[in-house]
Amino acid sequence: MDEWDVVVVGSLNHDIVAGVDAGPSPGETVLARTLTRTNGGKGGNQAVAAARAGARVRLLSAVGADAEGDMQVDGLAAHGVDTGGVSREADLRTSLALIWVTPDGENSIIVTPGAKDRVTPDFVREARRGLGRVRVVLAQSEVGPATSDAAAAAARDLGARFVFSCGPVVHAARETLRGCDPVVVNAGEARDLLGYVGAAADEASVPEAELATALLEAIGAASVIVTLGARGSRVAVRGAEPFALAAAPAARVVDTTGAGDTYCGVVAARLALGDDLAAACRAASVAAAESVGWSGARPLTGRPSSG
Ligand code: RIB
Repeated sequence: MDEWDVVVVGSLNHDIVAGVDAGPSPGETVLARTLTRTNGGKGGNQAVAAARAGARVRLLSAVGADAEGDMQVDGLAAHGVDTGGVSREADLRTSLALIWVTPDGENSIIVTPGAKDRVTPDFVREARRGLGRVRVVLAQSEVGPATSDAAAAAARDLGARFVFSCGPVVHAARETLRGCDPVVVNAGEARDLLGYVGAAADEASVPEAELATALLEAIGAASVIVTLGARGSRVAVRGAEPFALAAAPAARVVDTTGAGDTYCGVVAARLALGDDLAAACRAASVAAAESVGWSGARPLTGRPSSG
């Protein structure tokens, strides 16, 4: 059986991206300046980022037997992601994500149902049987709590490290949250997660600088990363001093779609390849800063020349 640095459990969406001057208010129609259709989905985006960071990556996901599914499989392969675990669903179309991006690079996203909904706990359990040695299992909450729990269980079963990108916050099992090393969230998600586990009477009042340590204690995870955009990140590790990292500067901001995915994919890859958490976060921050300079959730093709 093959060896994998990173096995990603997650979604694949076909992103339909409108460039607008401003997003519509309720009841309003706006005219877009541009329209592009690209490969996306948090699972695929993170798998591509991990592969571009030098990891051997298999993705467990699903697309339809349609042109958008072909485009996904071809695009993943072009970035060096193994697609042996990507199922083609004959009776469903590839999931679509409807995205608008404003001139400051900010995005809003609606993900629609489709083949990604076949990434179920049973799907993960079945796919897990075909895996050899795995260093890191990386999952995103976009596939829902039960599938996230199945991914965490697969990691335990395989003796792999479990990295969980938990945005948006889903009601994953406590065992799943305890097994994270790390869970990656932004500040809002960290507060949602504190609220979900009932750890803070008023999670809104927890200072930003204390969110990572508060979450570490609340969920019992081995490590927590709270990403803070241009303000960098805060990292808490069990049994060690928490630390703050500055954000890598972005040369230009075109589109922030998928920047968080790039970050998570690179963290997982660098941990699998032997970095400690601080070094992995630094590499991820540099990759995320680069990613906001291109349009869409992923670069067009190929690995970066720097590896
Ligand atoms: O994080 C960005 C991604 O979110 C997009 O590619 C879209 O498909 C949604 O999954």
